[in-house]
Amino acid sequence: MRPLLSTLWLLSLAWLSSCTYDNAEDLAAEEPTPTPTCDVRSVTYTASISPILAQSCRGCHNAGAPAGGINLVDYAQVKRYADNGRLLGSISHAAGYRAMPLNGAKLSDCDIARFQAWITAGAPNN
Ligand code: HEC
Repeated sequence: MRPLLSTLWLLSLAWLSSCTYDNAEDLAAEEPTPTPTCDVRSVTYTASISPILAQSCRGCHNAGAPAGGINLVDYAQVKRYADNGRLLGSISHAAGYRAMPLNGAKLSDCDIARFQAWITAGAPNN
């Protein structure tokens, strides 16, 4: 009986102390990897769309020498191309449209989703 009890005692000690083996690294590794989120609920022209255009499009599509005659600084023109489908068609590299940015890397899926959400909302000047 005694050897059994002391074995149980040792086992329970080992079990209790096993918790202390967890270190910060192990705990972090056990966290589920956060999936990259793309929140398109609060997309606005001013805060979301215009900065993407500034970053990736207005180098060519500006008022000075608008590529293809398209000035994407001017909201009215952005709206026109949003409404006629050419904006989304070109950035999503859909068949029948010139892929944009011309000769550049495709926009991220999240940025394309932002355009999509904004256009679905009626491409408002907000
Ligand atoms: C390196 C210069 C350049 C950049 C950067 C660029 N474009 Fe263009 N884009 C052009 C040119 C040139 C044309 C006209 C091409 C043609 O008519 O064959 C054009 C055409 C277009 C068209 C009409 C496409 C069609 O099939 O009717 C749209 C819409 C457009 N661009 C949107 C964008 C958007 C949005 C961006 C940024 C994500 C962008 N462009 C970035 C040069 C550029």
